[in-house]
Amino acid sequence: MSNDKDNKKDFKRKLDERDKISNENSKNKENDKKDKDNLIFDLYSISGKKRKINLSKPFFGGCNNVDMYQKISRIGEGTYGIVYSAKNKETNEIVALKKIRMEKKKDGLPISSLREIALLKSLQHENIINVKDVVVGGAGLHNIFIVMEYCKQDLAYMMDNMKSHFSFSEIKCIMLQLLRGIQYLHKHFIIHRDLKLSNLLITSKGILKIADFGLAKTCGDPPCPMTPNVVTLWYRSPELLLGEKNYSFAVDMWSVGCIFGELLKHRPIMPGNTEMNQLQKIFELIGVPNPKIWSGFDKLPLARSVRFPEQKYNQLKIEFPHVSDNAIDLLNGLLTYDPQKRFTVNQAIHHKYFKESPWPKAPEHLLDDHQHTSSLNKK
Ligand SMILES: Nc1ncnc2c1ncn2[C@@H]1O[C@H](COP(=O)(O)OP(=O)(O)OP(=O)(O)O)[C@@H](O)[C@H]1O
Ligand SMILES: [Mg+2]
Repeated sequence: MSNDKDNKKDFKRKLDERDKISNENSKNKENDKKDKDNLIFDLYSISGKKRKINLSKPFFGGCNNVDMYQKISRIGEGTYGIVYSAKNKETNEIVALKKIRMEKKKDGLPISSLREIALLKSLQHENIINVKDVVVGGAGLHNIFIVMEYCKQDLAYMMDNMKSHFSFSEIKCIMLQLLRGIQYLHKHFIIHRDLKLSNLLITSKGILKIADFGLAKTCGDPPCPMTPNVVTLWYRSPELLLGEKNYSFAVDMWSVGCIFGELLKHRPIMPGNTEMNQLQKIFELIGVPNPKIWSGFDKLPLARSVRFPEQKYNQLKIEFPHVSDNAIDLLNGLLTYDPQKRFTVNQAIHHKYFKESPWPKAPEHLLDDHQHTSSLNKK
């Protein structure tokens, strides 16, 4: 009888233990889920709806090691990282590795790099650089590399090293690809905020890829205040230079105007050396703003500290004497003071400039006359 009792007690104890273990397991599962949820970045779209990008999956759970790549050479270095070309030891595929700068190690990953990884992983378009993976090297998170598709060169390097200038049909091919990439970004409520030639990469097949999303940001409607201290100076719009915080997609379109002008002229069109000097360069090229063409510009935070010179007229036609009226019209629409009146990406993409002769070259022929500029070992 007592044996029976002991057996029953033993059985109950085992049952209790099993319950305890299964409770522990489900608690652990819940904690695991919470940890993963903490790695989910919430991005707010224009409608206020949340778009979720899960960073936990491909990146931090069992990251690949950078040892699987053999570095070939250093191909670029910028504010946020060093870029190498490298070969996947298993597949022999050539990739670009962007080593993330970890300036304040104890603070974890820099926000610009997290932004870049999160945004790039969520985007898929022929004219946007493709992120293949994120790999780690060394102990812990100390060395993190973004693995990207490899591009032959960036447009700044290409322009500096080409023997002949881009033809009009090549410029159209580049501009259309750039606009298609931006159209995709703006449709997904993303402002790039650092469009310039060195952030536009060209593959060996002549495909343009917009890269460097370190400053990119999602934008709502109405836009929430953001820092005006963005975009490389020569490509920075007048509203940013005057301290506007509630800016929007139009800042990218101004940069597109500067890029278009640079392609046509074969040199930067407004290479300012200070913010004030940059504004002066803008005044010289497109005249001085007035409330009729840009209402409210004089109320912008820095407008009072700017010395607006005597009326200077729009000089685009004089500065670009060799281009068609349609090209000037497109340039004018992009380099428009008032962000509300500036061409949107859709207006630019459908502009008649692209429908007049000479027709845009097909991307696969973009490099036909510029094959000598290879950049595997450019730096
Ligand atoms: N996928 C790639 N393929 C080939 N070259 C690349 C690639 N990504 C970047 N590069 C080269 O490395 C340079 C710097 O890269 P990136 O612009 O992403 O870095 P960054 O630190 O943000 O630069 P910056 O602050 O100067 O704009 C590019 O201008 C380009 O020359
Ligand atoms: Mg860059």
